[in-house]
Amino acid sequence: MAEDSFLRFPDGFVWGTATASYQIEGAWNEGGRGPSVWDTFAHTPGKICDGTTGDVAVDHYHRYREDVDLMAEMGLNAYRFSIAWPRVIPEGTGAVNAAGLDFYDRLVDALLARNITPYATLFHWDLPQALQDAGGWANRGICQQFADYTAVVVERLGDRIAHWITHNEPAVHSFLGHFMGVHAPGLTDPMATFQTIHHLLLSHGLAACAIRATARTRPDVGLTLSLAPVHPADDTDEDREAARRFDGVFNRMFLDPVYKASYPDDVRQVLEVIMPKPEPGDMETISTPLDFLGVNYYSRHVMKYTPDIFPLQAEEVYPKGNEYSGMWEIYTPGVYELLARLKADYNPSRILITENGIPVPDGKDFDGKVRDFRRIRYVRDNLAEVHRAIEEDVPVQGYFHWTLTDNFEWAYGCTMRFGLVHIDFATLERTMKESGRWLAQVIRDNGLDPGASGLPFFPR
Ligand code: FCB
Repeated sequence: MAEDSFLRFPDGFVWGTATASYQIEGAWNEGGRGPSVWDTFAHTPGKICDGTTGDVAVDHYHRYREDVDLMAEMGLNAYRFSIAWPRVIPEGTGAVNAAGLDFYDRLVDALLARNITPYATLFHWDLPQALQDAGGWANRGICQQFADYTAVVVERLGDRIAHWITHNEPAVHSFLGHFMGVHAPGLTDPMATFQTIHHLLLSHGLAACAIRATARTRPDVGLTLSLAPVHPADDTDEDREAARRFDGVFNRMFLDPVYKASYPDDVRQVLEVIMPKPEPGDMETISTPLDFLGVNYYSRHVMKYTPDIFPLQAEEVYPKGNEYSGMWEIYTPGVYELLARLKADYNPSRILITENGIPVPDGKDFDGKVRDFRRIRYVRDNLAEVHRAIEEDVPVQGYFHWTLTDNFEWAYGCTMRFGLVHIDFATLERTMKESGRWLAQVIRDNGLDPGASGLPFFPR
């Protein structure tokens, strides 16, 4: 190991993987679980590209011990997972399902027995269908219902879980689920989209207070946002303005309320009619101080001024000649740029990278190994950029890889493999990929040498 090029992470750095309940658990109608919007959506023909559903997913509900063993094998010291609201309160409000809480209880104990610290996300998009039938996130009453559900979970698990994430990616849930209709609940309603944004943020603030009021020891409370640098396609005023508008809607629309207790003025100017109309006290609740900001980083956006696209007059373009994965451009400098910007504009007290990963169409080679070198290269380059940000005093304290095993990737079904562990979807057999072994070494060393990764080659 060449010491001079070795990138050492700070002592106590958190190394984890992240998952989401609907993408892995399966057991959709077992153990008293109620239906969620994702069951309804995935069961609707044509919504999932390969016709699969999360009914079984990777059967984590029954195989969680094996999955915890895999995490231990990699030496991970943390695990971010989400709790399915419909498993805990099948109708969304009212009767609590003891069997649902028991499942998470067993999972948490299995993690702690392996010295893996649990980080629980309270909402990763699988809303109880009964609440959607009552208006879903467009209905203001849901905010208190989310806080009540949160208190039930923290009451039961708060003695062993210290780290809580209220919501996962409010932007993606709002825009893909309520505006573009490509995620559950499948709406294409601009008004409902912006009500959803406000109610997700308000419910985050209420839930943060509920966690702090319920937990017996001091909890660590965060919110996970999907964030990305937004670049102009060309260096023109028009493209720069298009990029600024897109940045307003997808980044600042979520960061400003949390850190500055207001929605961005430039977004209000463009979207006046549908902007949230906060009630007195809402913005104070939303800006309740966070213990940490969760950052999900995958790629950047490149925007071109396009006058006939209403109302943002901005169109996403994909620069020619760059490298792409099955879903996004591979743009690893973006995570440094993003982290530096967060420090400059919002100065968060602590940051955890709560997701970062890449779909790779990998499979087993003749000898049973899964040589997903493209994933290794992606993670290596992202970690080098995260390290650079840490050197510049951005307070990043952990990295959670998306994800542990290949799983149900929402509207892409089982066609996008994001795991460090390969899944044979016919047998659900788990096989550690080369990326899993590589990350295990990074964790053992608490760092990496980007030039000497231990692999034979990295085609660029
Ligand atoms: C994020 C989601 C996560 C997964 C990854 C690939 O937007 O939070 O559930 O789908 O993308």
